[in-house]
Amino acid sequence: MSSTSPTAGTDSEPAVSVRDVTKSYGGRRAVDGVSLDVRRGEFFGLLGPNGAGKSTLVEIMEGLRQADSGEVAVFGESPWPRNTGLLPRMGVQTQSSAFFVRLTVHEHLRTVAALFGADRAAVDSTLEAVGLGDRHDVRVDSLSGGQRQRLAIASALVHGPELIFLDEPTAALDPAGRRDLWEVLRGLKARGRTIVYTTHHLDEAEALCDRVGILVSGRLVVTDEPQRLIGTFGSGSRLLVPLGRIDEERAAALPGVDSVSVQGGHLVLETRATGRVLAALDPLTGLDGVQTRTPSLEDVYLDITTRQTDAPLASNNQEQQA
Ligand SMILES: Nc1ncnc2c1ncn2[C@@H]1O[C@H](COP(=O)(O)OP(=O)(O)OP(=O)(O)O)[C@@H](O)[C@H]1O
Ligand SMILES: [Mg+2]
Repeated sequence: MSSTSPTAGTDSEPAVSVRDVTKSYGGRRAVDGVSLDVRRGEFFGLLGPNGAGKSTLVEIMEGLRQADSGEVAVFGESPWPRNTGLLPRMGVQTQSSAFFVRLTVHEHLRTVAALFGADRAAVDSTLEAVGLGDRHDVRVDSLSGGQRQRLAIASALVHGPELIFLDEPTAALDPAGRRDLWEVLRGLKARGRTIVYTTHHLDEAEALCDRVGILVSGRLVVTDEPQRLIGTFGSGSRLLVPLGRIDEERAAALPGVDSVSVQGGHLVLETRATGRVLAALDPLTGLDGVQTRTPSLEDVYLDITTRQTDAPLASNNQEQQA
């Protein structure tokens, strides 16, 4: 990756500003009145079920699709119609990336790099960074799915863009590849780059993102820091008690227990008063082997996306309130 510094000057202006954007395909609303600012240097995650409108929204930000209405600004400029001035400043990996399939990996990335004036050293270091350092001479059409995904990510990063859009970059990666990419992305963020990405891996979004936005049926229902979302919407903890220690009925009658179920080899006690339940359990079963699970972003996400509402939720969502 090249070492261009993020452009100074208008640092207070958001990297991406989206105002009341809508987009329909035929009669169907894919993006429905979304407003959002992505700050410079921010790692922003767009979450939501299949078909929620994430790719459509990201492609509108990238200038690959035209919104039906609303306004989009990238570094203060409209990305649509195709804004060639913005292209060197943006790196884009789409969900269905296109490749020069007859070229080798190195030739492909060299071609992409040449389009943006990036040098050969950037090609080598980017291939290394995405774990394709030993695949230089393999033809693109011989790559595995995950290797193609790595090349797509490399193609978005090779010219050292300030603003990086990645649409499900880790979807096809193996667990080690996923962790390696986390480090690459953290490194980019540490160098001041802005990252907008989509994912269905909620553990990943929780680990990486400064803020996440959750789209449901084209509407951005909440935007906040992962830990604040968990604090606001996470409802209680789960205590896992090995089966045989206490029967279900007795556990359900303990003070502070909201519900009890059997999962695997455990009795699972849902509670919003962990301390009280542990204090009640201790003299009955002992606490050896009892595990406490606090809510995760995934719990909160499932709760939010399965509510049958698309109304904005109360949270630190300045864009929605604006
Ligand atoms: N080119 C298109 N023509 C017609 N409908 C489309 C097109 N692209 C997307 N859609 C529709 O728009 C809606 C949103 O699709 P989109 O691809 O933005 O969702 P997504 O959140 O990215 O989903 P996923 O998690 O599956 O990638 C879906 O109902 C989809 O069928
Ligand atoms: Mg998508």
